[in-house]
Amino acid sequence: MFMLKVENLHVNVGDREILKGVGFELGSGELHVVMGPNGSGKSTLALTIAGHPRYKVIDGRIIFEGEDIAGLSPEERVKRGIFLSFQHPVEVEGVKIIQFLQRILKNLKGLDEVGAYDVIFNAVQELGLDESMLSRFLNVGFSGGERKKLEMLQAYLVKPKLLILDEPDSGVDVDSLKVIAGVINKLHEEGTSILLITHYGRILEHLRPNRVHVIKDGRLVTSGGPDLVKTIEEKGFAAVGAV
Ligand SMILES: Nc1ncnc2c1ncn2[C@@H]1O[C@H](COP(=O)(O)OP(=O)(O)O)[C@@H](O)[C@H]1O
Ligand SMILES: [Mg+2]
Repeated sequence: MFMLKVENLHVNVGDREILKGVGFELGSGELHVVMGPNGSGKSTLALTIAGHPRYKVIDGRIIFEGEDIAGLSPEERVKRGIFLSFQHPVEVEGVKIIQFLQRILKNLKGLDEVGAYDVIFNAVQELGLDESMLSRFLNVGFSGGERKKLEMLQAYLVKPKLLILDEPDSGVDVDSLKVIAGVINKLHEEGTSILLITHYGRILEHLRPNRVHVIKDGRLVTSGGPDLVKTIEEKGFAAVGAV
């Protein structure tokens, strides 16, 4: 049984067609990687699955657990278990991370403040994160690595059915990368299905993907096993799936 099936997806932003036919099936509990050059449409794919209103599905379907979700609001998708970790998380002055995370756990899991605090504190310990981060404002003055680690903490707390990660490895140092990959592996072991977008192979040294998809110029040009990553590393995107 698949968790997510993307069928012949065509997506416009304004009048411009950005995705021009993307299709794949992500089995329950699998980890798939999406790679491709800059500007090929990877973030567009992630944002479209999450339901960003600027990204209009003009053809094709997005089936999640047997249901076409293309018409659902982002909130409805979150409730169904889809979580997107952004490539560029926003800064919010005046909102402390602890409050933000408590709110998320209240909305999604019905936890009160104290219950949520315990869950958050335990997760921070378990993941080896710095607990002083919890009293800072959301992403304000955060380094690339700190932002991504906070996104991973959110994902770990939410425990989504489907986790979409948009370049969790960009702008991240080697040590943070290990922490991030560790959280991905933990969630994967707990049964979360994962769609991981990256344009480097580096993070994949820590992970064991089931399948790799390559997008170029809005089209899925090839899919294959983990060996595809090696080919891309050695020969570049030009060597795989000619457009
Ligand atoms: N909100 C947007 N407004 C205008 N153009 C966009 C928007 N989102 C994406 N695009 C365009 O779509 C193309 C694909 O972008 P993107 O999905 O961000 O690629 P990637 O994540 O693979 O680098 C780019 O040419 C980009 O400029
Ligand atoms: Mg992108």
